[in-house]
Amino acid sequence: MLLTLPKWFDLHTHFRQGPAMPAYVKAHRDMGCAGALAMPNTQPPVSRISGAAQSDGWSIESYSAELRAAGAGDFEQLIVPLYLTRQTTAAMIREGAASGLLRACKYYPPHGTTNAEHGMPMDDLIGGDVLRAMEEHGIVFCIHGEQHALSGPDYIDAQQNAETRFYTERMPRLLAAHPKLRIVCEHITTRTAAEFVAAAPEHVGATITPQHLLYTLGHLIQGLKYHLYCLPIVKFQDDRAALRQAVTKAGQKKYFAGTDSAPHTTKATACGCAAGCFTGGCAPQLYAMAFEEAGADLGSTEGQALLENFLCLNGPAFYGFPASEKKFQMEKAAQQMTLLETPAGPVTPLPVGMGMELTWRMVE
Ligand code: DOR
Ligand code: ZN
Repeated sequence: MLLTLPKWFDLHTHFRQGPAMPAYVKAHRDMGCAGALAMPNTQPPVSRISGAAQSDGWSIESYSAELRAAGAGDFEQLIVPLYLTRQTTAAMIREGAASGLLRACKYYPPHGTTNAEHGMPMDDLIGGDVLRAMEEHGIVFCIHGEQHALSGPDYIDAQQNAETRFYTERMPRLLAAHPKLRIVCEHITTRTAAEFVAAAPEHVGATITPQHLLYTLGHLIQGLKYHLYCLPIVKFQDDRAALRQAVTKAGQKKYFAGTDSAPHTTKATACGCAAGCFTGGCAPQLYAMAFEEAGADLGSTEGQALLENFLCLNGPAFYGFPASEKKFQMEKAAQQMTLLETPAGPVTPLPVGMGMELTWRMVE
């Protein structure tokens, strides 16, 4: 079985910085990726619009130039969101929108994930002039939707977790205060978030990662497969079922690919584990496997259309750029992944970390 699809867009990924960057960009290009939204949680963060990189922050302009030099110049689209910090002003949003450099801003829950220490609480943003300026200028708000600073028992238990808390307590307030704000609910993991997005206006969409469509918390805990540890953490069967249903609904326009591929050269640390699953080189294969597990028949025209919609069409439509006219191919055959060697050290792709073989193979 051969699948021919338009080249796809990864609307949430991490290319980092420094000598390993070209390897990460290449891994994306090698898997038929035509463009990406590259996350701004670098060190220091991407916290300005223009000008040279400074000790306390990159600018969108300087970080984009770095990415292009690392191979991303061949992408059809490259979006770098602005990391919202206490230094972000409405004037920066207006200036960024006018210059064309600013297309999206990113919310990180303070200390809630990798390099999130510069984030400011959602409560301090809601109703403020930064979000109003974004609303006015059509700048997309990319949200890592987890309530920050919860203690262990509240962070996750059977009834609720940091994401469900955020989508029931914070998001309704955000939508009420900023009804025109274009929002991407990033890497959603729960039924609560999926249903929130489905019920929200059409300018509210969501990205979903391959790992959240394929796995549950049980897969992570059984054998402590820490390469599957990412944030938000994988959840329960009912959540996965809701995500699978959302992405495979015929004609759906709201859910699209955003892998959150997040390379870490060291996952297990002395006192914990770095959050992030690396899916460079294998994301479309993993998405295809997830769609099949969700019941899509990728041998049929209808089944292929479902995957194409999610992977190749909905993201561009949401962000307002054309889908790719180029194609890539996958065939139904085993593909063994290997470690990605980079100048910063080897990185373990998720299938290797899970001891798993892909059932779809990228055709060169
Ligand atoms: O698992 C994650 N890894 N979640 C994030 O939000 C950040 C990312 C990273 O940068 O490693
Ligand atoms: Zn991310």
